[in-house]
Amino acid sequence: MTTDTLPPAPPQTVVAQKPVDHVWRLDDARQTMVITATGERLPQIVYWGTRLPDGEDLQMLHAASVFDITGGMLDENPDLSLCPEASRTFPGQPGLIVRQGNGTPILPKFCFADAVETTDRLYLNYRDAENGLSLKFMFLTDPETHIITAQTVLSADNPVHLHWLSAPVIPAPQHSDEMIDFSGRWCGEFQPNRTAWSAGMRYRENRTGRTGHEHFPGLLVPCTGATNTAGEVYGFHYGWSGGHRMVAEELPDGRRQIQWGHAARMEHEAGLEFKTAPLYLTYSNTGLNGCAVSFQRHVRDRIVTWPKPDRPRPVHYNCWEAVYFDHKLDVLCDIADRAAALGAERFVLDDGWFGNRDDDTRALSDWEVDPRKYPDGLGPLIDHVHAKGMSFGLWFEPEMINPDSNIHRAHPDWALGAEDQLLGRQQKALNMALPDVRDFLYDRMSAILSAHDIDYIKWDHNRVLPTPDAAQTRGSYALIDRLRTDFPNVEIESCASGGGRIDFGILQRTQRVWLSDSNDALERLRIQHDAALFLPLSITGSHVGPRRCHTSGRVLDISFRAWVAAQRHMGFEMDPRELTDHEASVLTTATSWWKTNRDWLQTADILRLDSADPAVIAEQQMARDADRFVVFAGKAATSTQISPRPLRLTALDPDAMYRVRLVNQDDMSRLTRGTPALKSGPITVSGAYLMNHGLALPWAFPDTIWVAQGERL
Ligand code: DGJ
Repeated sequence: MTTDTLPPAPPQTVVAQKPVDHVWRLDDARQTMVITATGERLPQIVYWGTRLPDGEDLQMLHAASVFDITGGMLDENPDLSLCPEASRTFPGQPGLIVRQGNGTPILPKFCFADAVETTDRLYLNYRDAENGLSLKFMFLTDPETHIITAQTVLSADNPVHLHWLSAPVIPAPQHSDEMIDFSGRWCGEFQPNRTAWSAGMRYRENRTGRTGHEHFPGLLVPCTGATNTAGEVYGFHYGWSGGHRMVAEELPDGRRQIQWGHAARMEHEAGLEFKTAPLYLTYSNTGLNGCAVSFQRHVRDRIVTWPKPDRPRPVHYNCWEAVYFDHKLDVLCDIADRAAALGAERFVLDDGWFGNRDDDTRALSDWEVDPRKYPDGLGPLIDHVHAKGMSFGLWFEPEMINPDSNIHRAHPDWALGAEDQLLGRQQKALNMALPDVRDFLYDRMSAILSAHDIDYIKWDHNRVLPTPDAAQTRGSYALIDRLRTDFPNVEIESCASGGGRIDFGILQRTQRVWLSDSNDALERLRIQHDAALFLPLSITGSHVGPRRCHTSGRVLDISFRAWVAAQRHMGFEMDPRELTDHEASVLTTATSWWKTNRDWLQTADILRLDSADPAVIAEQQMARDADRFVVFAGKAATSTQISPRPLRLTALDPDAMYRVRLVNQDDMSRLTRGTPALKSGPITVSGAYLMNHGLALPWAFPDTIWVAQGERL
């Protein structure tokens, strides 16, 4: 069902033994990548950027791209190849570090074997006969999303130990001053870091064994002057959930290389074949948004497999922040009634339904319904939820085990790592490489899924691993794949204390991510804005939290909370019994707006706006046919200046006229006294005006958001 390797190429297209100086190109309407090789040596990317003319002479381009040399240098610059070899005097990090089965280091030196080219694929095979190694580079283009998927596979005649294998190594642009990568924390995911290019390397290595809040595997390299909406940007994402390594290195000669792979030494056994995860690449000439839209569309339209693609994304209710571990059937039924009345369409029963799970110290892996809380099983609650017209989802944390659990007492050897390891949330990870562990989890989970009509799993992963191990990640993938094969209608949400496992590897197997445990709308506004560089609305969960946020202590108005959740895949997570009539009414209105518009919103592109006021975080969600849009302009702080600065929109037709209106007119502050036309009704203006002058929004308090909808006339 899902695959971690690009599809095989048709064998009849093999081009045997090309002449010296091989040249290849990959194209879509927006970009060209030219790969050339001197003689039999490993190839290098000599051009990647805006689309080149069809008639470009690639042999000439190969010759013209040679970097000059002067005193103090070798007589030729070592190739910055798709896998720089330590054996060829390469002055930076090599793309491959490997040892023989007995531990002796190998210094590979590859030669051309053959190449396969089709309209959308390029596979290049190289061989080091002396060391019995083969290296394959695979590229796949996508004319619609403009994503190039690249992967490297190493095979060996005899078992070898892998220390490091990079996906195809990419030269970074020279006309760029900085790179943007991502760090984060619990309740603070997707924090962009801007780092200036300088001699030496920026080295990010995630050794936590899961994608992690701290190390989202993405990189954006803007060329000088690029913004959200304009300029050239190169985008990278490594689709793997086990922890990655990224090297962005400026060589002494000024060239720059970018390497991506699994974190080093994650393969604990000698083997005959190793492959990187797919590396997703894109070049944009429309600023960061060009990359963002490519990643968003690729995730939604190519990576995620939807059980029912035409089914609108249902509004969620999740009971975690309402009841935590205190499950009582009558209370949950009451909450379900209220959630349905507010507009929820799927009820998710979170942690606390199994074993003797009264808090987070016990029972993980005892995946049997707690008879104290559910004497008649889950059936009565599920029936009640269904009677309210909602579907039912259930929380699991399959990879985890508490020492205080029946399963740990019976199988202490199933836990991963040392006996005296540090616990995380009082729990250990199970060793997912063990078939017995996977079979056990499959049996327990499938028993529950078979017994009930459940259409959703919230799949949690609340601790890091004691040590990074690729076999663990492969084991998790195998379990999910098996469950998905047997329960194809069940959607899965990837959660790991919020956004700790978000990447295109897990998204090949899941349909939603729990972006953050922060339901604080102010924090969410920022997290969602930055996550949109990679993630579309349709997979990004966002819930309206309690009036006083449980993770920040902030008290935020219902309108702000509701509209920030309406920016993504909407849901509720507060105890609905706390809502006043006013709050329930605002929430119902926002939810109903979301439902009315979700058909076009779930395929819309999220475009980040360049706000002239740093206090305003704004985005424009643009329909695929470009005929309508909605702008969310969140006021994340008090502005320095007193009047709002106009907000420039993007990607509109300059010659078309647009009617724009405020959706949440009722949120107008009593302190606004001016007369911008938008305050009193729709305005009709040109795309040119909206993109050049900008939209004049009314004055607003901090911690509020304007929602303005536009349609092309
Ligand atoms: C962490 C998740 O992020 C929360 O949403 C919740 O599911 C808890 N785990 C349950 O233990």
